[in-house]
Amino acid sequence: MNRSDYKIDLYLNKKSADGSIMRKIYEYKSQLEEHERNKLNILRKSPLSSACDREVRVNDRYSGEEIKALMFGSNSYLGATIYAPAVKRAIEVTEEYGIGAGGVPLLSGTNIFQNELEFTIAKTKGVDDAIVFSSGFTANIGAIIGLIRPQNLIVHDKLNHASLIDGSLMSGAKMVRYNHNDPKSLEKILAENAKQYPGGILVITDGVFSMDGDIAKLPEIIEIVDKYNALLLIDDAHATGVIGDKGRGSLSYYNITNKKNIIITGTLSKAIGTVGGFIAASQEIIDYLRIFARSNMYSTALPPSVCASSTEVFKMMTSTNIVSQLEKNSSYMRNSLKEKGYNTLNSETAIIPILVKDEVLLTTISKEFLSRGIVVNYIFPPVVSPSKSRIRISMMATHTKDDIDYFLSVIDEIDKKYKIK
Ligand SMILES: Cc1ncc(COP(=O)(O)O)c(C=O)c1O
Repeated sequence: MNRSDYKIDLYLNKKSADGSIMRKIYEYKSQLEEHERNKLNILRKSPLSSACDREVRVNDRYSGEEIKALMFGSNSYLGATIYAPAVKRAIEVTEEYGIGAGGVPLLSGTNIFQNELEFTIAKTKGVDDAIVFSSGFTANIGAIIGLIRPQNLIVHDKLNHASLIDGSLMSGAKMVRYNHNDPKSLEKILAENAKQYPGGILVITDGVFSMDGDIAKLPEIIEIVDKYNALLLIDDAHATGVIGDKGRGSLSYYNITNKKNIIITGTLSKAIGTVGGFIAASQEIIDYLRIFARSNMYSTALPPSVCASSTEVFKMMTSTNIVSQLEKNSSYMRNSLKEKGYNTLNSETAIIPILVKDEVLLTTISKEFLSRGIVVNYIFPPVVSPSKSRIRISMMATHTKDDIDYFLSVIDEIDKKYKIK
């Protein structure tokens, strides 16, 4: 095998031995330059020169060529980025209401389309009210710093998203992590800490885990959260539009309703296909967070067109069978990969990891997939541990059976050459 490939090591560049800020930047620069020399830089992507649809065009930075490829790496699970009625709505609203909100939500930035979107999200999630944010990242930060003070405790699943960790760091509270999706490990931590933090513990989990594609064991988690009088924050970024009745998310998936101690966060940038984030919860919690979630209070509201087109996608999601089509495509892909002997971990959703035995291979096979007309994502340390380096594919409702079969034939060809299983 040709070993012109290399390992991506972001740990190397996180800090410099003497604490010098510029030194770590120069060290990173020299690593980037090596990647560029190898024409294998997956840290600086070749951009798309088309919409992010099931089929895309990629502008190869090295050859200057425009490559036509099937998209298996997008978060647009429902293909909504190009959903025609939403695009039309965005244009109409932009023409009449302009390109920006013009202010933060609590001053002049709230518009009628934001109110309609917040109402739609709350109804979809089965809760009283919602607040929208400029991204899922800022929604998570806002929820956590709004609710938590340094005297509280935050208990995380080990695989929670970076925005949840960053929000927790900003809150100044102590953080502990339980083993991934392991209610027993959660219970042990709560049993040890509940007395010290009466009513002051926030448990946080992704609804669908962004790297592994498995679903949080919410019934058991909620039982434990209730037993120890804690609050639960569920990040439904990858659950919205993907699981539950017509894509309503993780509570709907388990038929859980009417929980006052649960806060749901999420994003508009994945299945909904636009940009923005949200918090959905009981009226008291939302009223409180409109002020105390600083990323809402001190950050400009979403443009009216984004709110209006997002609402259009929510309506399509809950009134058609598109989420069932996504589930069908995901099951077909996952089951076929498993039958062929690939390790897809515990994926149950549209996110399907495929473990690659050797992390060094990731850079090489990134070229191989693209040259065969397929875009996938490559996940390497520190996002996951070295032994868990992987290709991560994301299914779309709009993929055809031929698209999936083509992917399956390509991965087999690459496996024959590089032994990735
Ligand atoms: C689990 C999870 N939460 C939050 C986010 C952040 O969402 P956004 O891209 O809207 O900032 C992401 C996106 O990467 C995510 O995967």
